[in-house]
Amino acid sequence: MQARRRPALVVATGNPGKRKEIEAALVGLDVEVLGLDSLGGVALPEENGGTYAHNALIKARAVLDAAGLPVLADDSGLEVDALNGEPGVYSARFGGPGLSDRQRCRLLLERLDGVPDPQRSARFRAVLALLVPGGAVYLFEAGVEGRIARDLRGSGGFGYDPVFYPRGDDGRLLSKTMAQLTPEEKNRISHRGRALRLLRRALASGAAALDGGNCCQARN
Ligand code: IMP
Repeated sequence: MQARRRPALVVATGNPGKRKEIEAALVGLDVEVLGLDSLGGVALPEENGGTYAHNALIKARAVLDAAGLPVLADDSGLEVDALNGEPGVYSARFGGPGLSDRQRCRLLLERLDGVPDPQRSARFRAVLALLVPGGAVYLFEAGVEGRIARDLRGSGGFGYDPVFYPRGDDGRLLSKTMAQLTPEEKNRISHRGRALRLLRRALASGAAALDGGNCCQARN
């Protein structure tokens, strides 16, 4: 008897930090997770959509067209209330191209110079788009509330993690930034971790399928 092959799922991201988080969240599911590298260099298109969902769909669509396999793409960003929600969908480009993550963090702190703690509220948001050959589209969206720090703390994670104090499930601010948490601790409370759990639940229950289906949207 021939062994059944596990269904493949391509993770459409060039960000190694995100890929690691996504792979870890899908461990144990009946899915073979593939990176873009295994497709021989599919280029991701420019993310010029106005929303996280639009950008995630742009990336997922491009990879699905190139690979013909189910694709998972995410788009995410940091929304700072004192900056009217900036950098939001522009988080990766904040301050222009060529800046390192740490330079972007410092720029953010400069822009918030003099803003008192209670007004430094912010949130990370993430949208995952799962596209399946045949047309099914699934969206999973989640966020984590928190506060922008006064300086950089910690060396884990990526992006704005060193300047973001998240709130736990009980709503209380943690005393560690996202960059001071272990990967497991970050996954438990992060926007992407939460959105990935929605995806995981949908795949495990059959509400989302890698071999067809309709479409759905899940938020928390
Ligand atoms: P994307 O790759 O277009 O989704 O860009 C999202 C940007 O938002 C990243 O480059 C980071 O700057 C920021 N970001 C998203 N998720 C996280 C996170 O978990 N930690 C820190 N920064 C994040």
